[in-house]
Amino acid sequence: MAAYSRALAVACGWDEAASKKLELAAMMHDIGKIGVSDAVLLKPGKLDEAEWEIIRSHTTVGRDILSKSSSEIIQLAATIALHHHERWDGTGYPCGLAGESIPKEARIVSVADVFDALSMVRPYKDAWSLEQIMENMTKGAGTQFDPYIIETFIRILPEILEIKKHWDVDGALVYKRT
Ligand SMILES: [Fe+2]
Repeated sequence: MAAYSRALAVACGWDEAASKKLELAAMMHDIGKIGVSDAVLLKPGKLDEAEWEIIRSHTTVGRDILSKSSSEIIQLAATIALHHHERWDGTGYPCGLAGESIPKEARIVSVADVFDALSMVRPYKDAWSLEQIMENMTKGAGTQFDPYIIETFIRILPEILEIKKHWDVDGALVYKRT
């Protein structure tokens, strides 16, 4: 998902250096999950409210871990960790920010993160078809996602799929619940 974030940043007009920094920072977006037990992260089936509360804490825990560093990339990562589950309509977490008050880096990463999550098998779900994913993401423009970033994502979909192909072959990564 970090590579998708970089491609999206370039397509949104960010320069190469800033986009590369975003890619590095995006890799740390879920670092707060080290504070969440596998019993919750890998639980098949539905979570209760208390378990959701624990899941949601990965954003603030991630920010707390990363914000201690003075490195520019780690500071960027702290912002992304905190805000990558905000929603454009203000119903996300943890801060309930809406629209352009959500830092752009977090808006980019949230689109990349959802595409990544939906296109992969997780313990609690199968991978979705590309058609289902694109329908879901298009529906989320203006509610879950920044509509401009979704428009950009659709425009560069061939490039995104090339990146995905690379990871499908080489990426033996195990992802957990986002
Ligand atoms: Fe997350």
